[in-house]
Amino acid sequence: MTNETILEVNDLKKHFDMGKGKSLKAVDGISFDVKRGETFGVVGESGCGKSTAGRTILTLYNSTEGEVLFKGTNVHGLSEKEQFHYFRNMQMIFQDPYASLNPRSTVKEIIAEPLEVHGIYKKKSEKLDRIYELLEEVGLNRDHANRYPHEFSGGQRQRIGIARALALDPEFIICDEPISALDVSVQAQIINLLERLQEEKGLTYLFIAHDLSMVRHISDRIAVMYLGHIVELTDSERLYEKPLHPYTQALLSAVPIPDPKIEEERERIIIEGDLPSPIDPPSGCVFRTRCPYAEDVCAEVKPKWQEAEEGRYVACHLYDDSISHMQPRHIEQAKN
Ligand SMILES: Nc1ncnc2c1ncn2[C@@H]1O[C@H](COP(=O)(O)OP(=O)(O)OP(=O)(O)O)[C@@H](O)[C@H]1O
Ligand SMILES: [Mg+2]
Repeated sequence: MTNETILEVNDLKKHFDMGKGKSLKAVDGISFDVKRGETFGVVGESGCGKSTAGRTILTLYNSTEGEVLFKGTNVHGLSEKEQFHYFRNMQMIFQDPYASLNPRSTVKEIIAEPLEVHGIYKKKSEKLDRIYELLEEVGLNRDHANRYPHEFSGGQRQRIGIARALALDPEFIICDEPISALDVSVQAQIINLLERLQEEKGLTYLFIAHDLSMVRHISDRIAVMYLGHIVELTDSERLYEKPLHPYTQALLSAVPIPDPKIEEERERIIIEGDLPSPIDPPSGCVFRTRCPYAEDVCAEVKPKWQEAEEGRYVACHLYDDSISHMQPRHIEQAKN
């Protein structure tokens, strides 16, 4: 990871029009930056807006408000030609490696597609060499080139998806739950592959997952999302050591700890109730309807996004100095 900011997201919103004057606030004002060479994790339960955030960053969706700066340029104001160039630098790999690969195309055709769209190789033989090279880079081989997606296992299909994402030599890849659909034994192989490719090519990843155990090892920093908002952002080490936001504490308490003694003594924090609707989100703090610490102020005032410690951001009234009667309480105290 370098100090160069490659991506900057400022107060980004994506609302979907639901008709009758209603809108669904899938992403409702998120801000973060990603450094070149970093793996930036985004976690949160299903429906919190992770994929929508990824798609809006990639400009597959127009933004409702806010900015996405890639190497300093706002990608939501690009001309068609500039956007085409942006897609060379920013690629995405998806959760379901089967649904994202055309079943009627051979592996060769699937990987060739981005190369053809962008007119990278004039000569057929050069293109084929590049396809073979990509297959080898992801741990497949040239014999696989003429086969169809259904002839492969889930892990191999994800490798094909990764080869396609790499075809244009991007600088940045959005990995949208790339291992969630895979067997546990295969998950580690794909993570290792992504890590090796990152090292070899200096890639930057935005890595989306719905549980913390999946992003723990791969991420340098992690943003925790809840109902279209980022509630906490910090480096993974500190996030695991001492989660600040009550939602992060609950998410983390669901991650198994390999030490059986700690595991046995540990308290689980169960988040009660359902995820509220993003069409009609709670006033004030969006997490307050399920938060074990919620007080009146949480319904009245939206918590500000603040730097609680150096490089560590949280949106929660527990850490708000101006509200003096609320003190940060941690998991131990929460047990009583
Ligand atoms: N094209 C769309 N039109 C309307 N609503 C949408 C659209 N895409 C997503 N949503 C809604 O936006 C919210 C966020 O969805 P999103 O897919 O971004 O969540 P997610 O965090 O990726 O969830 P998952 O972990 O299940 O993939 C959900 O309420 C979803 O129903
Ligand atoms: Mg998703």
